Amino acid sequence: MDQHPEILDGYKPASVERAVAALRAGDVVAFPTETVYGLGADALNSSGVAKIFEMKKRPRFDPLIVHIGQKEWLSSFTKEVPPEAQKLIDRFWPGPLTIILEKQPAISDLVTAGLRTVAIRMPSHPVALNLINSLGKPIAAPSANPFGYMSATRAAHVARMFENKLSFVLDGGPCSFGLESTIVAIKDRQVFVRRYGAVSLEDLRDLVGEVHEKMKHGTVDSPGQLPYHYAPHRPLVIIETPDEVKSSASSVLLFRTPSKMPVSKRMRILSPHGDLREAAANFFSYLIELDREDVDIIYAEQIPEIGLGKAMMERLKKAEKKAFRQPVDNVRNPVVS
Ligand code: TXA
Ligand code: MG
Repeated sequence: MDQHPEILDGYKPASVERAVAALRAGDVVAFPTETVYGLGADALNSSGVAKIFEMKKRPRFDPLIVHIGQKEWLSSFTKEVPPEAQKLIDRFWPGPLTIILEKQPAISDLVTAGLRTVAIRMPSHPVALNLINSLGKPIAAPSANPFGYMSATRAAHVARMFENKLSFVLDGGPCSFGLESTIVAIKDRQVFVRRYGAVSLEDLRDLVGEVHEKMKHGTVDSPGQLPYHYAPHRPLVIIETPDEVKSSASSVLLFRTPSKMPVSKRMRILSPHGDLREAAANFFSYLIELDREDVDIIYAEQIPEIGLGKAMMERLKKAEKKAFRQPVDNVRNPVVS
């Protein structure tokens, strides 16, 4: 019997040809990027884009990121590119930075959920670039996960999450960054972070100087950002040290190797020596592996909130909030993606 979805080697030309044919026919394909796997459709094909929303069970008012294959494509899909945006593009593209810019009419309201702006990035993963350039058109893609769950960073995890709902997944190996792209917007020549992600605040500040953080008085500006995002099914609790593990019917996500191992059913160490990039690359895949029916609770050790640690801690805090249904104040758009 056929396995659905099939996992195809994304480095084989025949797999990419199949994916391009599916995209041309208005279908959805899962493909790797350097951040997380994406669930893509031809960005200029409305019925393909509509299928993404159905498959993810994602609200129509939560816009998608448009992935381009070459920097030169930008002018066909966006209006003015402010100098700050150009600087970010020169430094971080291809790569894990998404920039919100004024859109051209070629990008439909379905993709942008009616906004005047479009979120756009040029990924660096060779399979993603090959796919987009072989199609010759941009690909609209959210992260390949059911709405509200954690993003997939392995082809096998995508296959598990979309069992029988997707024909195939292009396998490009484990995602090297493992966290979603950082999203920025530029207003009045100022750079604002809309989502913490695979490019750290420190790296942004090194390039452009001041960077404003997205949260102000608990509000957010990206429609998809909040409040119960990225959450496992099991309740998750953040602990300061491994000594706080009380239940052995638990799974434990440790940042680094502790002096004394806690007792639990399952354990993953993000980075034995505490390297934040290594930890980020393992982050979602380990959490997905720890989110099993036979555990009562997931304990997650806190991660230093510097560099990529900030993005990981933000996701852990959201997961903890979901578990305990803490009310989040001032949520303008109670949406997750
Ligand atoms: O790393 C990534 O960014 C991955 C890979 C596949 O590229 N994609 C991803 O997409 O994380 P998604 O849909 O899961 O998250 C995109 C976020 C959502 O929170 C959405 O609300 C926000 O981007 N967004 C999209 N267009 C926007 C716009 N025009 N203005 C503000 N926020 C926007
Ligand atoms: Mg997402």
